[in-house]
Amino acid sequence: MAGPEPILEVSGLVKHYPLTRGILFKKQIGAVRAVDGVDFTLGRGETLGIVGESGCGKSTIARMLVSLERPTAGSIRYRGQEITKLSGRALKEVRRNIQMVFQDPYTSLNPRMTVGDIIGEPYEIHPEAAPKGDRRRRVRELLDVVGLNPEYINRYPHQFSGGQRQRIGIARGLALRPEIIVADEPVSALDVSVQAQVVNLLAGLQDEFGLAYVFIAHDLSIVRHISDRVGVMYLGRIVEMGSDAEIYEHPTHPYTQALLSAVPVPDPSAREQRERIILSGDVPSPTNIPSGCRFRTRCWKARERCAREVPLLAVPEVFRPAAGPASHDSACHFAENLSTTRSAPGRAVPPEEPA
Ligand SMILES: Nc1ncnc2c1ncn2[C@@H]1O[C@H](COP(=O)(O)OP(=O)(O)OP(=O)(O)O)[C@@H](O)[C@H]1O
Ligand code: SF4
Ligand SMILES: [Mg+2]
Repeated sequence: MAGPEPILEVSGLVKHYPLTRGILFKKQIGAVRAVDGVDFTLGRGETLGIVGESGCGKSTIARMLVSLERPTAGSIRYRGQEITKLSGRALKEVRRNIQMVFQDPYTSLNPRMTVGDIIGEPYEIHPEAAPKGDRRRRVRELLDVVGLNPEYINRYPHQFSGGQRQRIGIARGLALRPEIIVADEPVSALDVSVQAQVVNLLAGLQDEFGLAYVFIAHDLSIVRHISDRVGVMYLGRIVEMGSDAEIYEHPTHPYTQALLSAVPVPDPSAREQRERIILSGDVPSPTNIPSGCRFRTRCWKARERCAREVPLLAVPEVFRPAAGPASHDSACHFAENLSTTRSAPGRAVPPEEPA
């Protein structure tokens, strides 16, 4: 299936933070493998949802995409250009096109700056983007675009609610007219009643400005209606990737199935049919990742092969002959369509270590 033209191509992306001991003579004793080999593409005007539990590496990916951090290895190409090794003017130009919206609108806005100065700040860094005399007008226009009264331009962040503050953060992200916005859990800190409004705002802006989003969340239900494709992360890797319908209706990876079983279902009959899969055990430390399949210590289907062989993110062999909805990338040796695993036992059996 040919999707939109890819504008961002990520391959083999790795970020390891060294673990050191000693004060004077620092010795590396290990590494936090925060992101450990991630591949994906983002098409023009597309939304890619990235979902996973706390600590699985989502924000680390976000920081690398917007060039706040350099990867340990791997490549990020924006419109065909490798951006991970850029510096100076070339880096600045790329940064203008890939902007970020942060999770916490309470801490990401400087309390001592007016809303006008916050939204207009990107013009100080990129003066070529707007002539000085035109900046106030543009900021007023941005306030209007995100559904805030332009007359609020001289107010301070504390005079706004959480949802309104996130609108200010979004307006700042739009100031330079980027092509891509990386939104790192943009609604997680907001009341549930406000979350949908902010997601709807982002969806509307996407159409208006032709934006592509990398939309990060820890909950599959939040990205559902805005994502064209979804990648599910576990411990530094994407374990399943597919279109919205493939992931939500035909997940084939046990981790995605467990996450989905926890998503509330409004329809009571569907709720009764579905069995909740409760994963036992904690997520292993990213300093000590299990051999083979990294999910095996919590997977109820784990067998000996899972400890021995790393499952690659690809269409599983069983689904290759048919082009059905289960035929999408899933890093599992024993991938199964959800309908066949509905009554999966809700417990994880630790696999035996290979001899
Ligand atoms: N600068 C750093 N130095 C060392 N370890 C780090 C650093 N930044 C992140 N980590 C570790 O890398 C892992 C991934 O962190 P990251 O913040 O990317 O996760 P996340 O998926 O965004 O989690 P959350 O949902 O809580 O925001 C975590 O174990 C974290 O402790
Ligand atoms: S490869 Fe094995 S341990 Fe990993 S998800 Fe599949 S069945 Fe579970
Ligand atoms: Mg995070």
